[in-house]
Amino acid sequence: MKRILSGMQPTSQLHLGNYLGALKNWVAFQNDPQAECLYMVADLHAVTADYDAKAFPQAAREIAAAFIAAGIDPKKSSVFVQSSVPEHSQLMWMLATMAQMGKLERMTQFKDKAGKHKERAGLGLFAYPVLMAADILIYKATHVPVGEDQKQHLELTRDLAATFNTRYGMAFFPHPDPVITGPAPRVMSLRDGTQKMSKSADSDMTRINLTDDADLIAKKIRKAKTDPDPLPEQLKDLDGRPEALNLITLYAALADMEKEKVLVQFSGKQFSEFKPDFIDLAVDKLAPITGRMNVLLDDPAQIDAALHEGGEKARGLAGPVVKEAMQIMGFYA
Ligand code: ADP
Ligand code: TRP
Repeated sequence: MKRILSGMQPTSQLHLGNYLGALKNWVAFQNDPQAECLYMVADLHAVTADYDAKAFPQAAREIAAAFIAAGIDPKKSSVFVQSSVPEHSQLMWMLATMAQMGKLERMTQFKDKAGKHKERAGLGLFAYPVLMAADILIYKATHVPVGEDQKQHLELTRDLAATFNTRYGMAFFPHPDPVITGPAPRVMSLRDGTQKMSKSADSDMTRINLTDDADLIAKKIRKAKTDPDPLPEQLKDLDGRPEALNLITLYAALADMEKEKVLVQFSGKQFSEFKPDFIDLAVDKLAPITGRMNVLLDDPAQIDAALHEGGEKARGLAGPVVKEAMQIMGFYA
């Protein structure tokens, strides 16, 4: 059996990068009869940055609604909120005693998020990857479907599992495999093909959100940065054209096609011809998700019921693992 665990922060609306980089793979795992899936709203992670406490419960519901609207079935997968399972934080402390400051300092996400004033960054932001390791190891997860930006955190998770196992002389934690095989593991900004599409980018025009309506999607794609050349025949000829490569990658991922096939369809054409087709495709694929999300958000009790049920299942799995880890570490029981 495989055990799958992944999460997303309720920092704001999900975008196309979250969907194509991670969420689509979550759905694929759910349909694998050999896989038991756990998908969480990573609210403990989200409080490492500025956030609005009043709006926070609703932000968690919205992310859960996006999971479900994108195809996660809470009857098949456990959908839950991270903070409803206290064992994550308990295991985090144990792992924190084994995490080296030097390794945490090298995490690129920490460097990006801490910015110029590293000494003012919070301890939570610094320890973020240790909490992520605890999220994964508490379920003894074997596979973690994420976008490419999380690769380094997964390496640290494997490292911490190995440190624990070596220190206590037993193969207690499995080494989880990152699954970074989504159709677009690194979706770039619509305005700058060298920057990742991100919830935290200042301009909303850089990303397509799962909640955007057809008009807004069309506007964002029409304004997306391109270059003056026509589309080439060969994929390798997109080297050095990051915006063009990004749009072709997005088209291929949304249409479930190979990038090469997309180029066969559009080679020799200008972006002015490509974009209207791309708009139709994006609207066609995203509108049903947005529609389902809106229906779900009209009935918050239904989302809450799914999250409560998922939380119970998750606690049922996490409780015994923390207990055993404490025994192994020799804590007074
Ligand atoms: P963000 O970086 O937008 O704040 P999260 O940190 O909550 O989003 O990421 C949730 C998931 O989505 C992770 O698995 C992450 O790797 C993936 N992801 C985020 N941005 C992208 C992107 N631009 N391309 C591909 N995957 C992404
Ligand atoms: N750190 C991840 C991100 O920013 C979200 C996350 C938290 C996560 N815990 C996790 C992803 C555990 C996978 C597994 O995208």
